[in-house]
Amino acid sequence: MAEKAKIAVLISGAGTNMAALTYASRIGDCPYDIVLVASNDPNAAGLTLAAAEGIPTFALPHRGMNRESHDAAMEAAVMEASADYIVLAGYMRILSDGFVSRWAGRMLNIHPSLLPKYKGLDTHARAIAAGDSHGGTSVHMVTPELDAGEVLAQVKVPIVPGDTPDSLAERVKLAEHQLYPRAVADYVCRWRDPAALLARVRALALALPETDERTSHGSPGFRVGGDKSGKYFAYFADQHHGTPHIALLARTGSMDELLHLVESQPEAYFKPAYYGASGWVGIILNRADVDWDDVAHWLQRSWRSAAPRRLTRMLDIADSF
Ligand code: GRF
Repeated sequence: MAEKAKIAVLISGAGTNMAALTYASRIGDCPYDIVLVASNDPNAAGLTLAAAEGIPTFALPHRGMNRESHDAAMEAAVMEASADYIVLAGYMRILSDGFVSRWAGRMLNIHPSLLPKYKGLDTHARAIAAGDSHGGTSVHMVTPELDAGEVLAQVKVPIVPGDTPDSLAERVKLAEHQLYPRAVADYVCRWRDPAALLARVRALALALPETDERTSHGSPGFRVGGDKSGKYFAYFADQHHGTPHIALLARTGSMDELLHLVESQPEAYFKPAYYGASGWVGIILNRADVDWDDVAHWLQRSWRSAAPRRLTRMLDIADSF
């Protein structure tokens, strides 16, 4: 099994979600380990539990510090612990944009509402006041805008007669304790999940003009130019011909370019069976640090070399200036 992802959990309070994440990490073949629990409150109850569980802890009160320096100290502790991901679990601080953007794609949060409903505080009171049939909880990516990043997973929790914000909060936490470990485990495995990788490639490929998808020799292929005369510009290859790679196959300009890529960056590129002979390169997708802008760029380039002239004419003209 692949190495476990290292997770730093940031808390401010009880830390029951941190506890749920920790115990899930101790069961079976959980794909992550908790390497640090850090808090802006040295008295956070969760820190005591983490320490008792033998997990390194770090606490730094934010009072008297500006946001950037407090974030920088928290981030330094996270780096020191060699964490791959930051998981926020009741961390009651707004994070500075710099911190968030450095961890883009590697920072998750759990929020006690069915996002996009009720961002911010008092979610349960607001759901009850609105007469909603359900509250719930959402795990989402952290982006600079509060509680607005991509939602990865949600659970609905019914609001029952006589519910108060506290009674609902307690019920929602039960759901959170199931949801968060599962969502974190799925997320850290996402880069080796063929369905997730295909979905991402498909979204990029089909966003290009006049494209469609068709199966070719058992693999999803992406074509440009219409139903009858379409030409393939990309294939998605899931561990073909004995390779361990899940890959995007795209056209290069020449065999020289292909060989140069494979030689200089063997962790990112390979020469695929059959297709390699005609200059197609394999771009390895099942690795943790794929540059998706680069993947998008390969798709555009490959699209352009396969597209009919009526589609590329404007680009060619733009290039000639
Ligand atoms: C949870 O309800 C979570 O959704 C919210 O803060 C609460 C933290 O609770 N962000 P705990 O400290 O994990 O018990």
